[in-house]
Amino acid sequence: MNIAYLNGQFLQKELILISPDDRGFLFADGIYEVVRWYQGDFYDIDSHLKRLKRSMKELQIKWDEEDSFPNILHELIIRNGLEQQQSKVYLQVTRGCAPRTHSFPAPAVNPTVYAFASSIKSGTKEIESGVSVMLKKEMRWSRCDIKSISLLPNTLSFQEAIESGNYECVFIRDGLVTEGTHSNIFFMKNGALYTHPESDHILSGVTRKNVLRIAKSLDIPVYEEAVSEAMLGNISEAFLTGTTVEVTPVTKLGKIIMGNGHPGPVTKIIIEKFKAETSALKG
Ligand code: PDD
Repeated sequence: MNIAYLNGQFLQKELILISPDDRGFLFADGIYEVVRWYQGDFYDIDSHLKRLKRSMKELQIKWDEEDSFPNILHELIIRNGLEQQQSKVYLQVTRGCAPRTHSFPAPAVNPTVYAFASSIKSGTKEIESGVSVMLKKEMRWSRCDIKSISLLPNTLSFQEAIESGNYECVFIRDGLVTEGTHSNIFFMKNGALYTHPESDHILSGVTRKNVLRIAKSLDIPVYEEAVSEAMLGNISEAFLTGTTVEVTPVTKLGKIIMGNGHPGPVTKIIIEKFKAETSALKG
């Protein structure tokens, strides 16, 4: 049984039809969220809803029932029998259907809201052993803060990472490390934690925000400052954060091997704290 959501209805996924005039299909004119379910509750769903609203505001997309986001997500978990499994729910909102023209439909049309849930495997092996990450010159637009469904540079770069035996591809913009194709990145340098500040050049990750809170609670000095590619030789530890990757240690970054190829001590402490929080959600 695979139940998905479309515009107010829960339907068998195979029966869902989307118009070819949908602006999501024609222009990638929409935004999305991915929220993780830990066998009992969602992880920080409030922050995901806040970001969903912000993304819609930036694109001037109006969804009157936006506050039903948590209920829709929970309903999908229940209807798909995923309560006892680690799962994720994806929800996207597009500007809706209208004959193709670049300008927004006038008058505005109803947005298309589509959501589905699926089980997700914890990356236990990667979290224990660490992963290698490739570096690449930024090829995305200048509004990476919007969680847009227009993800071609991300998908192409992630494919390149997979084909070259890497777990993720991290972008470098103007000599500074920004983020991955679907994750944020943190570095340990001289006993302090660094990550790119919130800006148009990164997505303000929900996991990133919570990891910053966890690090501060552990009295780890934290700087929301970009790290330059030239400084990567001075990094002692690195890790990725994201709804799907959780907190995953990076042991190889480009050509640089970190911590003799093992996850660093600070990374491990943060992983433990993060795990404690997600385990506490289990019903
Ligand atoms: N991606 N940066 C980018 C470009 C992302 O796409 C994501 C998440 C993150 C991490 O954000 P968060 O901690 O809120 O998940 C950072 C989702 C999971 C995806 O595209 O599937």
